[in-house]
Amino acid sequence: MGSINQAPRVIQSEETPYFTPANNGGAALNPADPDTPTLFRPLQIRDVILKNRVVVSPMCMYSAESDPSSPFLGALTDYHIAHLGQFALKGAGLVFVEAQAVQPNGRISPNDVGLWDHSPESEQFKSLQRIVRFCHSQGAKVAVQLAHAGRKASVVPPWVAAEAKKPAIIAEEDVGGWPSNVVGPSGGVDHTWGLGYCTPRALSVEEIQELVQAFARSAEAAVRAGVDVIEIHAAHGYLLNQFLSPVTNQRTDAYGGSFENRTRMLREVLTAIRAVIPSGTPLFLRISATEWLDGQAVAAESGSWTMESSLKLLPLLPELGVDLLDVSSGGNHKDQKINLHTNYHIDLASEVRKAIRAADAKTLVGAVGFITQAEQAQGLVQGADEAHAANATVSGPEPVADLVFMARQFMREPEWVMNAAKKLGAKVDVPVQFRRAI
Ligand SMILES: Cc1cc2nc3c(=O)[nH]c(=O)nc-3n(C[C@H](O)[C@H](O)[C@H](O)COP(=O)(O)O)c2cc1C
Repeated sequence: MGSINQAPRVIQSEETPYFTPANNGGAALNPADPDTPTLFRPLQIRDVILKNRVVVSPMCMYSAESDPSSPFLGALTDYHIAHLGQFALKGAGLVFVEAQAVQPNGRISPNDVGLWDHSPESEQFKSLQRIVRFCHSQGAKVAVQLAHAGRKASVVPPWVAAEAKKPAIIAEEDVGGWPSNVVGPSGGVDHTWGLGYCTPRALSVEEIQELVQAFARSAEAAVRAGVDVIEIHAAHGYLLNQFLSPVTNQRTDAYGGSFENRTRMLREVLTAIRAVIPSGTPLFLRISATEWLDGQAVAAESGSWTMESSLKLLPLLPELGVDLLDVSSGGNHKDQKINLHTNYHIDLASEVRKAIRAADAKTLVGAVGFITQAEQAQGLVQGADEAHAANATVSGPEPVADLVFMARQFMREPEWVMNAAKKLGAKVDVPVQFRRAI
């Protein structure tokens, strides 16, 4: 733990079993200075303090071992250390590991990562712990996104399908797939996601309950591995999203039909997770705020999951222990009609946040989608702290979000946080090894 004599500020990271300098890139040098932009001010959620408001959004990389007989099946690899590590090193406040399946048949492709093997000796556990230790050594916090792909499971990685000029290709058993064990709330050919996908079978009630426990066990394992934030993936047409929508959920039991029944599995998952993770651990929820089926023929009889449905979900979140709603959209039905423009997601986050504030609730909001510019990101969170302070009168525009989630821009520009700090005039810490350059 000692410091290096010649460089007293270089101290050893406490979490790694070897010497590495503890960095804190992207952290404001004077966070309390009123000139520090909100984007670069720390945010505390329960017991976790994020050094800034910039989040690396989850990004599936389809780069894990697919051989079911390998101990590395579903484990993160050196690729993920390099991929996620660069964002931690270069100053992101919170780094998301890509969607991690809570059961083997919950992977999208056989090359997805998972966290169904909870033993401390398992490669899934150890590899996650290694990512966490590295990110922590760089001052970044780590989130996992727990997921089950439902009817979108058992396809080959998207670039394999793209090379074959196909929208998707079923991953058969010879490449590690499980085409006969793809599941959803409802089954049969009518519930196939699209061309190149498997026909799902409906989950039994017993299987739903097993899945609820699987989410909880994975969350508990993630916390043991040192993960700071747990997010549940209930967006983009994956299993929990499928349950929410009356179009994809046509069950007639306690898990289908009414809003209460369709949200039951999600509520059970969140409750089960809260029961096993520490009270200080933040719990995030990603939803598709709308499935963009308003007015579409497929939703004429059943209705669809709309913004109104999401607003109805909001009052339930505090009692379920959800701290932040990560507002995404779409991906649940091929007939979706999106009016695509740069702000189409951000506008959804804004609407959600306004409703939360109008109800005097404290749930935080994450905005995601087409965020690329420093000023744009800063504009989204500006005033968020003031808006949270008790009895504060907010002047200026209402903030859109509390955290900014970014995916593709980080792939284009891994040092985005450093560049944004420069553009916004925020004085931030730099990793010691980089000081000769920055
Ligand atoms: C390569 C790639 C993989 C993704 N994987 C996930 C994922 O695992 N879970 C998820 O919720 N979203 C995933 N997304 C969506 C992103 O998290 C994000 O919501 C979306 O890309 C919009 O943000 P952006 O405009 O900053 O890229 C993925 C996006 C990309 C580009």
